[in-house]
Formats: sequence, structure tokens, C-alpha cells
Amino acid sequence: MIRAETIDEARSWAAGHRRAERTIGLVPTMGYLHEGHLSLARRAKSAGHAVAMSIFVNPLQFGPREDYDRYPRDLSRDEGLAERVGVDLLFVPPVEEMYPRPPRVTLKVGSLADRWCGASRPGHFDGVVTVVSKLFHIFRPDEAFFGEKDYQQLRIIEAMVRDLNFSTRVVGCPTVREEDGLAMSSRNRYLTPEQRRRAAALPGALAEARRLCREGHTRADELAEVVRRALSNAGCSVDYVAVVREDDLEPVEKVTGPCRLMAAAVVGETRLIDNVALVPGRGD
Ligand code: PAJ
Repeated sequence: MIRAETIDEARSWAAGHRRAERTIGLVPTMGYLHEGHLSLARRAKSAGHAVAMSIFVNPLQFGPREDYDRYPRDLSRDEGLAERVGVDLLFVPPVEEMYPRPPRVTLKVGSLADRWCGASRPGHFDGVVTVVSKLFHIFRPDEAFFGEKDYQQLRIIEAMVRDLNFSTRVVGCPTVREEDGLAMSSRNRYLTPEQRRRAAALPGALAEARRLCREGHTRADELAEVVRRALSNAGCSVDYVAVVREDDLEPVEKVTGPCRLMAAAVVGETRLIDNVALVPGRGD
């Protein structure tokens, strides 16, 4: 595995592979790698790409009261994990390499960022698309791999590619979970053992609502209420619970076509997000 810290090195690695007619797969991350991240790299590898993974805690996507400074970092452990899953190039730029000065031009997400996580974290998705577009320009990947765990992010990046005519194909990959269902996240390490137990209420409630929907309970308000109640019983405070259409993330009243149940909750100081696909059942 090659480790690159500069944009020039990353660009010439990608150019070399293009000249050799190899396709390039990119896995952008903020590091502190877990099985969720590694599943994206394995997927990229099995598609036959030369695989680049970036590890960059992007200051642009953190709000002033968010956890940029204490975001977990462990580069030597990450290097071992990335190498083991077959990452070919690990791109670990220092902040000054990506932002030598405060950027004068950034991207702005439209209405897809108005609701849900975008409403709770103003400017967050603008920071995400700005750094992802920089990475896409640096690597010009054939495919880039993102997790469904961050469903709104995935949809926004797909929209960025379409609206701005990037030639990269965005591949959405399923959420990887701990044994008790909690979606893997670098931020899970903030949780105390007691908070960790309470956090499991979130995937539990989403799975319950998904089951109810399959059985024919397709009213969005009822499904959302199941999740709200379970979260508050577990002592988690609810940020949002929403049943949305998959394509534009607008709320629905009833689950008819492809929908997502998305939720965000706060346990102690830690914000957790998760979502599941809803499949409408016919009922009895
Ligand atoms: P990060 O939170 O490190 O996540 C990197 C990628 O891993 C994202 O595509 C995310 O959706 C995916 N991922 C995280 N947890 C997952 C899980 N449990 N199962 C499957 N995939 C999972 O998301 C970011 O970083 C940043 O916003 C980034 C896109 C890198 C831009 O800075």
C-alpha cells in the first residue's frame, strides 16, 4: 500500500493507473476505521478497481460547536486495517494540503440539505460536497463508494454528480451494524457502556417500524411515533424521526413507493443517526 500526503502524489498515482487502463475506485473517509468503512473498500476491490481510500477529517463540514477537535484519530491503526483489505493508495493529506488558505469558492447544496441532518447542522453538507468534489477532481475515480448509513449524504452526493456532470459513478453500500444492531460509527467510541446500551434502542425501533410497515401499517405518523416512543423510553432525546421518499427525501404521509425511515437522536453528548428502507405490505 502506498501512502500519499500530497495532492500531486495522489494525482500521479491515479494518472498512472489510467494510463495502464485500470479503473479507479475511491473510498472517502474521515478515518478511525471500522467495518463499515472496510466494507466499502472491499466492495471497491471486488469491483476490480485500483482502490484509493482517503482519510481526512474535513474541518469545513464541522459546525463551530461540533467535535472537530476531539474527532477520534488513529492513523497507525487505520493504515494496518486499510492495507489488510487491499487498499492500494491511502491518501492522508494534512489540512494545509487540502486548504492552504480558507477557500474562497465552495459548493452549496440546494433544498436536499434543508431538512433532517441539514437542518440540525447548518453548512455541514456544503462542507461535505466541497471536499468530495475536491477528491473527485484529484482522483477522477470511475466509481466512488459511500455508505447508506449516512443516507442524506449519499443522496446529496448523487445529486452533486448528476447536477454538476461529474463522470464518477456513486455506489451506495449497505449499513454495517454491531451485533446488537447499532450502526457502526467512529463516534460510537464517545459512548459510555451505559449510553451504548441505550443507543441500541435506535436500530431496534427502526427494525420494529420496518416490520410493522411490512405487515401493512403504512401510515408515516404511526411508524414515526413507534420510533419516538422507543427512543424516549430509552432516555435518548429525539432530533428528528421522518418517513421520506427515497428519491427527494421529502416527507410522505403514507408508505406507497420506496421510502426511508430516518432518525437522529442524542445520547449524552453524542448524536446518532440511522435509517432503514421501508417496504409497504398489503396488510390483512
Ligand atoms: P465517515 O463518517 O468517516 O464515513 C466514510 C464513509 O463510510 C461514508 O460513505 C459513510 O456513509 C460510510 N459509513 C460509515 N459508517 C458506516 C456503516 N456503519 N456502514 C456502512 N458504511 C458506513 O461520511 C464521511 O466520513 C464524510 O462526510 C466524507 C464523505 C468522508 C466527507 O468528508
